[in-house]
Amino acid sequence: MTMATGVDPANIERLIAAFAALTEPGEGVTRLGYSPLERRAHALFAEEMERLGLSVSVDAAGNSIAELPAAGGDGRVIGTGSHLDSVPSGGRFDGIAGVCAAIETARAVVASGAERRHTWRFVAFAAEEGARFGQACNGSRAAAGLTRAEDYATLRDARGVTMEDAMIAVGLDPAGVASARWSPEEWLAFVELHIEQGNVLESQDVPIGIVDVISGSSRLLVSLDGIASHTGGTPMRLRHDALVTASECVLACERLATDARHHGTRVTVGRLDVEPGSITTIPGRATFSVDVRDLDNQRQRETAVELVQLFEHIAARRAVDISVRVIGDTSPVVLPVSLVHELAAAAGSCGYDYRVMSSGASHDAQQISRVTRTGMIFVPSRDGLSHVPEEWTSAEQIAAGTEVLLAALTALDAHDGVPHGGATAR
Ligand code: GLV
Ligand code: MN
Ligand code: MN
Repeated sequence: MTMATGVDPANIERLIAAFAALTEPGEGVTRLGYSPLERRAHALFAEEMERLGLSVSVDAAGNSIAELPAAGGDGRVIGTGSHLDSVPSGGRFDGIAGVCAAIETARAVVASGAERRHTWRFVAFAAEEGARFGQACNGSRAAAGLTRAEDYATLRDARGVTMEDAMIAVGLDPAGVASARWSPEEWLAFVELHIEQGNVLESQDVPIGIVDVISGSSRLLVSLDGIASHTGGTPMRLRHDALVTASECVLACERLATDARHHGTRVTVGRLDVEPGSITTIPGRATFSVDVRDLDNQRQRETAVELVQLFEHIAARRAVDISVRVIGDTSPVVLPVSLVHELAAAAGSCGYDYRVMSSGASHDAQQISRVTRTGMIFVPSRDGLSHVPEEWTSAEQIAAGTEVLLAALTALDAHDGVPHGGATAR
């Protein structure tokens, strides 16, 4: 049923299903950054927006941007959007919910015929997930001017494909990344809607989250080279087993992240590759990823440095060679208090209860906050699950967030992007 604001959960449900169909075979949704499937999702986004009468362009980094100009506007811009890529065997809502909210916002605004003072842009960012190449938020980093063309050659996926080659293979232009940069002078404000990916809203039965801080993330790829040999012929005391060394490193991650200094730090080893991967050969090589998340900028970086020192110590004791590469690095970001207030007012005007909260996950909003005043709306995640096939948020829950998004953009449009009550905290 269409809500009073013109937002229709049935449209959102249809869009979520249409994007979810664009997946590799297997469980959940697999639509990795800079893959042909991700580009098909962007083509679907463009189709939906063009059907509403918006013009759509794709930039060098693969971000799709749909534009709704204002009659007689001054060319300044407010916007919303999120990403369309997924992690391997992920869900159908992470990123997609925000893109569907953007499409539904565009539809509701066009249908209402409401006057706007500014251009509205609706964005599907490319390659937000760091799951493939390590670095997260690639499209939004390009928009924020944080990526140099040469950076794309240094990032590789598990098969050794560089981000540069992956981009070229899907028709993008890594060498032209500078042209994807957004102009701070042009932008007035940006708001991203996203699923919470935790269980705070569900457990407190609150429909809307308003984000004040977004965690940062430092990512490492650690390679351990020991000596592969016969499992029967090699006595235990003569081994240089790369997997046993890696196991000690994994436990060191857990120990450090749970000590008294690290309340709130999250450290995860999410990938571990063992070679040669034979039941009867001692592992000669082990490679693992480390993802350090924190709301505290300094502690995040210090934790990563301390972990490398621990790994080196463990490897030296076992006479195993070690090399460490930094494959991703994003700082935590505090979003403007004034926009938190604006989103709270929008939630109130729609009759929704809300909670101000931090985000443990990374988001495109984190990068865009370097360009313009940026806010984030969360909607609940069932059982707090995300990055798994069980990820779930109902169309009605996304529609409630979309109503708040529409109300906030409308208010920001009216106030030239300056939150009502001024740019400072109230
Ligand atoms: C993005 O989903 C992240 O890994 O935080
Ligand atoms: Mn996401
Ligand atoms: Mn994600």
